[in-house]
Amino acid sequence: MSSNTAERGTITWQSPSNIALVKYWGKHGNQLPCNPSLSMTLQASLTETTLSYQRRKEPVGGVKLAFTFEGKRNETFENRIAEYLNKLLPDYPFLAAYNLNIDSSNTFPHSSGIASSASAFSALALCLMSLKELSESKSDEAGFYREASRLARLGSGSACRSVYGGYTVWGDVDNIPGYSDQYAQPLKSEVHKAFQSYYDAILIVSGDKKKVGSSAGHSLMERHPFAQSRFRQAQEHTAALIEALGAGDLERYIEIVENEALTLHALMMSSLPAFILMKKETLEIIEKIREFRRAKNIPVAFTLDAGPNVHLLYPAAYRDETVQFIQYELTELCEGRFWIDDAAGNGPKQING
Ligand code: DP6
Repeated sequence: MSSNTAERGTITWQSPSNIALVKYWGKHGNQLPCNPSLSMTLQASLTETTLSYQRRKEPVGGVKLAFTFEGKRNETFENRIAEYLNKLLPDYPFLAAYNLNIDSSNTFPHSSGIASSASAFSALALCLMSLKELSESKSDEAGFYREASRLARLGSGSACRSVYGGYTVWGDVDNIPGYSDQYAQPLKSEVHKAFQSYYDAILIVSGDKKKVGSSAGHSLMERHPFAQSRFRQAQEHTAALIEALGAGDLERYIEIVENEALTLHALMMSSLPAFILMKKETLEIIEKIREFRRAKNIPVAFTLDAGPNVHLLYPAAYRDETVQFIQYELTELCEGRFWIDDAAGNGPKQING
């Protein structure tokens, strides 16, 4: 039983990261996407966030927050989160009623170059929703996650997809009703068994800090000469990938997922200013993945985030051969031979409360 009351308590959520198969790249207004995206939620790459709250005697002024990362005060994160919470205040006045202490930690190493904003804002948004339910009224489960997803989106777009397990869609999809720009939702259609148990080996080419921050990256699409055709392509890719996931069409999946990754980097390379985020090892790994697929007839696929690391996606049926391939041929191209053995997961979990 939880000892949390509306006066004081502690709420902990663990949220995984996610890997986009159709990429979100370009936003407008208040964190709204220019095109739909579709992702797979991971299992091992997690953020755990604990929110301790205590009702204030005199709730005046804005949000009262202290933030620690792995137990240590972190002012950069604290300022970003304080700004985020203060922006939420008009719609969520209960936030000013408490002293808030937030501590966060990741299961993946700080220097692994993994985007942590997705898992971080997902975990935080879920904590805020749990607090809202204690201090205001409760919503049904679907409503709880939908609102958590919307809150996560306002912190970081890709975070809104992390509040669910499995495959997730964020953004209006032409001719497929039921999806929204405001929040993500679990994929509504069937997933063929070929795609139900899937792995993602994250090959760390470099753990360096990102060369281009995501907001700056998205803004490159505002004046990009290919923007409109890209947004149309993402619409088509989302619909086609939904179909491929339902039909168990691995070939089409590979075609779309790899094209999405290369398109993302091609968009960055053809932006002003231009960014080249792939390293020579990134290209070597891609070559080896394609060669392995051709030679062994094993349906492995790669994708990339806005950085040099490679995600190698493969079905559970090919686990042994693929892990051997990674160990013998790919780890030598990874920084410190480091890779993360991740897989599709079931989504966030509340630890107490
Ligand atoms: C390339 O979600 O990090 O990973 O909304 O500015 O926080 P903000 O952007 P962010 O962008 C992610 C971009 C991407 C593709 C994706 O995850 O869809």
